[in-house]
Amino acid sequence: MRTLETKRLIMRAWSMEDAKSLYEYAKHPDVGPHAGWKPHADIEESKEVLRDILLPVEAWAVIYKETGEIIGNIALENDRIRPDLLSKELGYGLKHEWWGKGIITEASKEVIRYGFEDLKLEVIAIHTSEVNKRSQRVIEKCGFKYEGLLRNSCRIFTGEKRNSYVFSLLAEEWEK
Ligand SMILES: CC(C)(COP(=O)(O)OP(=O)(O)OC[C@H]1O[C@@H](n2cnc3c(N)ncnc32)[C@H](O)[C@@H]1OP(=O)(O)O)[C@@H](O)C(=O)NCCC(=O)NCCS
Repeated sequence: MRTLETKRLIMRAWSMEDAKSLYEYAKHPDVGPHAGWKPHADIEESKEVLRDILLPVEAWAVIYKETGEIIGNIALENDRIRPDLLSKELGYGLKHEWWGKGIITEASKEVIRYGFEDLKLEVIAIHTSEVNKRSQRVIEKCGFKYEGLLRNSCRIFTGEKRNSYVFSLLAEEWEK
């Protein structure tokens, strides 16, 4: 996978050496639950997540150029509902103190460009929970179209069932 760059950010592949930085981002009680995952309890848990979840997929550490700090994660994973197309699902999360500065919109636009131009994807999709208004705003700013509501689409770490709003962007829409 390629390292990507925007005005304020570098996005590069995660490595096992990033466990401490991942933990600093993932330990906050208000970050993971919005995306359905449990806040990390310790660095050991961050190492497991790196090994089992982030390293096997196309996931980038989001780095603030000016300081070199890892401030988030962004990923393209297999599209769960379009196995016959060249389609990926976008996912992301940001360190709590960096919210509301346009960081994930900036990162997403570059990952979307990479997906369509370099990977030649036909579709990029994204799922989010009904209540995640911040993510819905990012999705809107990136130009995704609303597709519908998946009822009881997943069970999150608390055991609770969640509905998801599903959005997508087609290559031909993005080119326009
Ligand atoms: C979702 C998340 C990645 C957004 O990152 P971010 O860099 O803060 O996003 P941006 O700053 O680009 O955009 C956030 C937008 O939400 C808006 N917003 C903030 N709080 C809001 C609220 N309560 N209701 C509606 N919109 C809200 C902001 O005003 C901003 O829109 P604007 O640019 O029009 O002002 C970040 O909040 C996060 O990490 N959340 C936890 C993990 C998560 O939810 N992951 C996504 C799972 S689908």
